Amino acid sequence: MEITSFVKKIKKKLFNFRDKNGLFFTKTRVFGANNRIIRDRGCRISNLQIKIFGDNNIIHIGRGTKIENMKIDIRSNGGSVTIGESCRMFDLHFMVEGPKGGKISIGRGAYCRGGNFSVYDSFDIEVGDDCLLAHGLDVMTGDAHSIIDLETQKRMNKHKSIKIHNHVWICAKVAILKGVEIGSNSIVGLGSVVAKSIPPDSLAVGVPAKVIKKNISWDEDRTMTD
Ligand SMILES: CC(C)(COP(=O)(O)OP(=O)(O)OC[C@H]1O[C@@H](n2cnc3c(N)ncnc32)[C@H](O)[C@@H]1OP(=O)(O)O)[C@@H](O)C(=O)NCCC(=O)NCCS
Repeated sequence: MEITSFVKKIKKKLFNFRDKNGLFFTKTRVFGANNRIIRDRGCRISNLQIKIFGDNNIIHIGRGTKIENMKIDIRSNGGSVTIGESCRMFDLHFMVEGPKGGKISIGRGAYCRGGNFSVYDSFDIEVGDDCLLAHGLDVMTGDAHSIIDLETQKRMNKHKSIKIHNHVWICAKVAILKGVEIGSNSIVGLGSVVAKSIPPDSLAVGVPAKVIKKNISWDEDRTMTD
């Protein structure tokens, strides 16, 4: 065999992955045992890059979901990324890190316009159904580096899971920090840093985000008048 076609064959084996339905995932590197990538029917995927290093991880993309320019990195064991059905996902980076796998799950019908989601160890990010997440979003279950109490020499900034309930609108350029829960129907204003939980049916803005309106909801419709 010619050397160039041999190299091409090896590259194809390393960088492509066939799921259980026999579908190819391009730009995919999977190293480890018992890792699974499942894509349901009717997905439209362009430029999805997947890297998995570890064992027993799973990626599941729901039926009818559209993905453009997305990276999924799993460096863990038993981690998962689940994207529900009929989602629209653009310009995103999902990272699952740490020895015991965390989970990133996005509910049905979500629209995510761009940003980074990162989970560490067994801490999770859960996004409910029908959420609208604008561009420039950062969601992280930890701070990456450690803050240490000098008396005890113990880490103070522990990781915590994040939950965004159904039908939440996160405006552009928002950061959502460890341990936060955002109640259903709520809105987070542009440029906010959410460090504490927000109740349902509320509008919160600022750094750190504070509730400024209660008993509200929102609609994706751009043409609605009074
Ligand atoms: C959050 C938002 C939707 C709220 O709109 P609204 O309900 O009409 O808010 P108001 O204009 O009545 O503002 C209420 C108060 O909050 C303040 N405020 C509004 N948005 C703010 C923000 N993002 N950060 C800080 N303060 C904000 C206003 O200055 C005002 O303060 P005041 O009561 O002291 O005068 C809007 O301000 C916003 O952030 N829009 C950006 C939307 C976006 O990112 N779209 C991208 C595509 S999804």
